[in-house]
Amino acid sequence: MTGSQTNWGVLLELTGPGPRHERLARALRKAIRDGVLEDGVAVPPSRQLAADLGCSRWVVTQAYSQLVAEGYLAGRTGSATRVRQIASETPPKALAKKESPPRYDLAPGLPDLRHFPRQQWADAVRGVLATAPHTDLGLPAPHGHPRLRRTLAGYLRRVRGAETDDVRICTGVTDGVTRVCRTLRQNGITRLAVEDPGWRRLWRAAEAAGMAIDPVPVDNHGIRVDGIPAGTRAVLVTPAHQFPTGAVLSPLRRAELLTWANDVDGLILEDDYDAEFRYDRRPVGTVQGVAPARVVLFGSVSKTLSPALGLGWVAIPPQWTLTEPAPPVPDQLALAHFVEGGGYDRHLRAARLRYRARRDRLVEALGPARISGAAAGLHLVLHLDRDAAEVTKEALIKGVKVADLDDYRGAPGAPALVLGYGNLADNAVETAARLLREAAG
Ligand SMILES: Cc1ncc(COP(=O)(O)O)c(C=O)c1O
Repeated sequence: MTGSQTNWGVLLELTGPGPRHERLARALRKAIRDGVLEDGVAVPPSRQLAADLGCSRWVVTQAYSQLVAEGYLAGRTGSATRVRQIASETPPKALAKKESPPRYDLAPGLPDLRHFPRQQWADAVRGVLATAPHTDLGLPAPHGHPRLRRTLAGYLRRVRGAETDDVRICTGVTDGVTRVCRTLRQNGITRLAVEDPGWRRLWRAAEAAGMAIDPVPVDNHGIRVDGIPAGTRAVLVTPAHQFPTGAVLSPLRRAELLTWANDVDGLILEDDYDAEFRYDRRPVGTVQGVAPARVVLFGSVSKTLSPALGLGWVAIPPQWTLTEPAPPVPDQLALAHFVEGGGYDRHLRAARLRYRARRDRLVEALGPARISGAAAGLHLVLHLDRDAAEVTKEALIKGVKVADLDDYRGAPGAPALVLGYGNLADNAVETAARLLREAAG
């Protein structure tokens, strides 16, 4: 509507509660938001509108200045006050398109959220809030609460063969890698070798912390240590279960990696993200346990419980400093309580059985297929005979979300998909696999 066509008295009905100037401001705001008053339309001079509405001029000037302050009107001395459609009324492009979520989400990343131990976690939170000394409610210790640090050191020694008394608490592996990269930079180490393929989120985190990334190829034995560029002194690896290929770092490569670290006076960043889940034999111990002075060990509850908890840890050789605030103390204490009482171990035992059964069902449902990396973790790799990007697209049309292995590579390679089954409902496995087989043609 343009200004000259407007019957202001009809348009601006001063209904509702509040003083008149507020009611007028509300009516004008609504007319602008609804697009009844278009961008650029001049509103009447205050004296004229006051006469039309039968109110004082003060009421109108108050309403106008309120809307100028809010950005709905633009006023310049000597010219008319005009409507300004607020740009943020248009949703950002990325949000404008509403896509319905896929029916079957096999993108890797999540554990089984349906089986998050809600009751046990709630009991742990309640228990620590009821019993923690009031001193625990003061300023949090920057490296984490001593109780959780102690408890996790014991857990990592017992379950992961780690060799540490000094565990620092952070919000996850990503946070830990970010912090360590900052420390590395402060110590003059500016390049980080990473596994290719690898988890891009950590590459980006390292880059955001100021490191340059050098992707190094991975084969069936894990990282090709001979591919680490000369001059590099830090490398990020997933030895227990390479992400995403699923390879386990072979004993020979482990030895090569440690020799490399000693030769260059370097540091190995060991991402131990899902090592608790190994199905066909016992999990391999950490590299950190063999060379604690050369390795920084990272872990989190993102794969064992839920990434929403934001709890992780770093075991770093003592000469390296990491000072940043740890996650909320009640959450740290709840995790300590859960681990100390055996609830964490019980949860992991049950989860391991569940994931193994689901993996077996998925492998069977995929039919005769070339699969690798299925011995551990919450994902496997399905090798294809045709373009993976096309299969990914066709699968999505059928309601199945999967990841293209190329999404984790520095450069495109042999066609394959990464299928995460951690959060796939048991009763969806066969249907998701059938739809995927159809998409893969
Ligand atoms: C390779 C890898 N590392 C680490 C993590 C966990 O990261 P965070 O603890 O930051 O959630 C994941 C989770 O998906 C992962 O895939």
